[in-house]
Amino acid sequence: MTSNPTIDTMLAHRSIRKFKPGSIPDTDIQTAMIAGQAAATSSAVQPYCIIHITDSTKRQQIADLSGPQQKVHDCGAFFVICADLRKHMLIFESAGKEYNTSLEAFLIGTIDASLFAQNFTLALEALNYGTCYIGGIRNDLPQLSKILNLPDGVLPLYGLCAGVPDESPSHRPRFAADAMLFKDTYPTDEETNAGIEQYNEVYKQYLVSRGAKPSTWSAAIEKKFGYATRQGLAAFYESKGAKLD
Ligand SMILES: Cc1cc2nc3c(=O)[nH]c(=O)nc-3n(C[C@H](O)[C@H](O)[C@H](O)COP(=O)(O)O)c2cc1C
Repeated sequence: MTSNPTIDTMLAHRSIRKFKPGSIPDTDIQTAMIAGQAAATSSAVQPYCIIHITDSTKRQQIADLSGPQQKVHDCGAFFVICADLRKHMLIFESAGKEYNTSLEAFLIGTIDASLFAQNFTLALEALNYGTCYIGGIRNDLPQLSKILNLPDGVLPLYGLCAGVPDESPSHRPRFAADAMLFKDTYPTDEETNAGIEQYNEVYKQYLVSRGAKPSTWSAAIEKKFGYATRQGLAAFYESKGAKLD
């Protein structure tokens, strides 16, 4: 496998959940911001924003509703990444025209926000910060929207903790690349099941190496998707002006 500094930074990723005290200088946030914005965006519509939460009370409120996950309060910088259709809505409002979208606008918002977010995250990691995405903010989006005074069109997706790492966790193994990269056609279910079995073994060994109870990735998936969680997201996003059909 070819190695270069960019690929090395990408391969060095692991989520960091313990941070040293101290905030991230604004100059580094600006650098990561501009690098994040350099990501591709559908027809340059740029339907996203990122909210840097600097207020300690707000941080604690978000930490609490996210789990609680205290790292949201304690990390060097915390951000909320949103699909943001607000600018588009205002253009239509100024033109006196009806803003008439479909699920496509919502998808473009979530896709482009995530392309931005991963570039932003990678830039922070290239600057030697640790990061951890926080899906926990979706536990209570109505409350989060109140805390942040979010207008219609601003749709929070996930948070991001960043800061100087105060831990050095091992790398979490992924599927073998050939169980994810297919040529010309999707594999048979037998081949897919073989890939799952192979990964279950790797996953089990990873847990054992961390001193955790041996279990499989299949068991983790059963646990995560065996019942519906965070119901009401569609209703929330629609209440904020997203069209989901
Ligand atoms: C969108 C998203 C949301 C996540 N939410 C959380 C979270 O709320 N809390 C947390 O501790 N980790 C969270 N994670 C981190 C994942 O658990 C982590 O990326 C995954 O286990 C793989 O481990 P690694 O990042 O160390 O390679 C999230 C990751 C993503 C991509």
